[in-house]
Amino acid sequence: MTYEMDYEVCKCRHVTLGETMYAIKEEKADTLDKLQNLTDAGTACGSCVCKEDDIGEAKLGLYLVDILKKMNNE
Ligand code: FES
Repeated sequence: MTYEMDYEVCKCRHVTLGETMYAIKEEKADTLDKLQNLTDAGTACGSCVCKEDDIGEAKLGLYLVDILKKMNNE
């Protein structure tokens, strides 16, 4: 599955995939802490952080740790 840049990675804080990628790439948010500080993503219910923390009934398709891992490896 592919995601558009305006896909909302964090529903609580309304943070998009594009904003997340920008923070990682351009603002050097290479850890979850830095990413959360910069974007606020994952700072409410926490479901978007990783699959294990996803407390929603309809599971999310994309998690912050996975985006970080993928981009840190590129
Ligand atoms: S969906 Fe990201 S904190 Fe709730």
